[in-house]
Amino acid sequence: MDEKTYNNYITAGRILKETREETKKLIVPGASLLEIAEKTESIIRKKGGLVAFPTNISINDIAAHYTPNENEKTVFGEKDVIKIDMGVHVDGYIADSAYTVCFDPDKKEMVSVIEKALEKALSLATPGRPVSEISEVIESEITSFGFKPVSNLTGHKLKRYQLHTGFIIPNVRTGIKEILKENDVIAIEPFLTDGGGSIKEGRDVRIYMFEKQHAVRMNAARQVLSAAKEQFSGLPFALRWIKNPKGILLNRAIRELVSVGSIYEYNILKEIMGGTVTQAEHTVIVKDKPLITTR
Ligand code: CO
Repeated sequence: MDEKTYNNYITAGRILKETREETKKLIVPGASLLEIAEKTESIIRKKGGLVAFPTNISINDIAAHYTPNENEKTVFGEKDVIKIDMGVHVDGYIADSAYTVCFDPDKKEMVSVIEKALEKALSLATPGRPVSEISEVIESEITSFGFKPVSNLTGHKLKRYQLHTGFIIPNVRTGIKEILKENDVIAIEPFLTDGGGSIKEGRDVRIYMFEKQHAVRMNAARQVLSAAKEQFSGLPFALRWIKNPKGILLNRAIRELVSVGSIYEYNILKEIMGGTVTQAEHTVIVKDKPLITTR
């Protein structure tokens, strides 16, 4: 890894960490999801970073991929369990980190356990380490407290302008053969639940991503496709980020782009039995002494 790449990863991680510290105290019952998301994204930009993906604010049995829409009025409830997953990039080099805030005193253990599982996993991000060992440690830590790891959500490798690429880091034992190499940049993100132990796609879509250039009929669709590719650099985006077109025209443009395969939809992800889900995540550069960029 050259010095410039390294410095960009470190800077992205520092911006994320500072943004997390400034926004964490705003996560209280009654606070608006839209305000939290917009505040997070504007602090990232103010600090000189770019937003790598829309701030995910996923509550209770929603595990991931929920971001508030423009004009959304949803506020946090008195007993919500909230996953905040945020991303920063500097010149395409990404920092990805998540944490859980729990207002329900009966579910606090689900937060401490997921943090412990992440901690143990991070310490194993060393060269030569089989990915399967990390998965094993996450699974046994979670199950030792009587919870279930979410089997179909995984950590992932990061590359420039690529959020999920190369190998995955499952949160349960698998036969995966991958071995970590020095300077691999990975996001480790265990999820646990008191429900069934896996997620399914919900109908709702809040997050999209450029997939492939195709000829499209509508002018509005061409505008959206160009924003997806250029302005958002092929990384995930939210409709509230698009200033033109808006409203019905924007929705029609998105429908056309999805139907021709130009835009990928991230459906919201829900626990299969409606269980509560907690998450913790950091980005780490694989080294003899693992370098956690987002802390
Ligand atoms: Co991630």
